[in-house]
Amino acid sequence: MISDYSQTLIVQEVSPRDGLQIEPTWVETADKIALINQLSLAGFSRIEAGSFVSPSAIPALRDGEQVFTGIQRQAGVIYVALIPNLKGAQRALEAGVDELNLVMSASQTHNLANMRMRCEASLAAFGDIVAFTIGSDVQLNGSIATTFGCPFEGRIDEDRVLQIVEAYQELGIRGITLADTTGMANPRQVERLVRRVLQRVSPMDLTLHFHNTRGLGLCNVLAAYEAGARRFDAALGGLGGCPFAPGASGNICTEDLVNLCDEVGIYTGIDLPLLLKLSRGLPDLLGHEVPGQLAKAGRNCDLHPIPT
Ligand code: COA
Ligand code: ZN
Repeated sequence: MISDYSQTLIVQEVSPRDGLQIEPTWVETADKIALINQLSLAGFSRIEAGSFVSPSAIPALRDGEQVFTGIQRQAGVIYVALIPNLKGAQRALEAGVDELNLVMSASQTHNLANMRMRCEASLAAFGDIVAFTIGSDVQLNGSIATTFGCPFEGRIDEDRVLQIVEAYQELGIRGITLADTTGMANPRQVERLVRRVLQRVSPMDLTLHFHNTRGLGLCNVLAAYEAGARRFDAALGGLGGCPFAPGASGNICTEDLVNLCDEVGIYTGIDLPLLLKLSRGLPDLLGHEVPGQLAKAGRNCDLHPIPT
């Protein structure tokens, strides 16, 4: 393992939100809180711990208030919640959320399926949220779902994504996430778009959100990193997916990403043995195997006995 960490990558853990939102089996509030409390000890500076959306849209996360008020917050960790509208923002602020992640899709069709409104209505709601949060300490991030491709419309025009970035900035939303909702991105496309977006957004305000639906997740991370991106979403065990995007499957897997970084000498500050322990507990919690690979294979340094 290379130990010269000349460069850094920030991982935002999203399993409590993106990971659990698609799980068919109810995860008890106490189990969600226990998972987030453990993740809070693993060295993450940011954890997306839930969402405040319609409980009929995402029943799995209908206990957002109890989760956010029940967790043991660690100093230095920013606890984020996904928000679709003003009602979500009101609930989140009351629950003490540190950052609101406002989500709209680049494609009208996916925004209609996911948020049941056109993009114009989402942007208007975000304007209301910005006005509502003035005077509070809460931070704002704007995610652009289907940035790299939409399951209904195919490839998304890069200029469209740039326009949304500018619209978010004009509203006063500082953080920007480019989300590959159904894993349609490829490394060349990622590199090109990240370079363009970084002309308008600082690397510390830009997050890349990849799903591994077509096996290109970590390739896309490296391409984005080479293009200057430094913040990435990932989910323990490779859980995750949007229930309103056909064919959606898991996020890039946090422990696989941290292992990649450790192996090539990029510093993350994440406790990989702890992540592996948590990941290996997921099948019991969820009742099924999870896609992550490192938890099954072990690390390169986990050597086997030589056959006699
Ligand atoms: N939190 C809780 N309840 C909410 C809510 C929120 N943020 N927003 C709306 N609701 C409630 C309304 O009060 C209303 O309740 P009622 O039927 O008891 O009166 C009901 O939901 C419908 O409200 P409406 O404004 O008509 O919403 P909608 O049915 O058009 O749905 C969204 C719009 C945005 C609320 C819904 O599509 C949604 O929550 N989407 C999020 C999907 C998601 O999280 N996807 C994965 C992440 S990318
Ligand atoms: Zn996602």
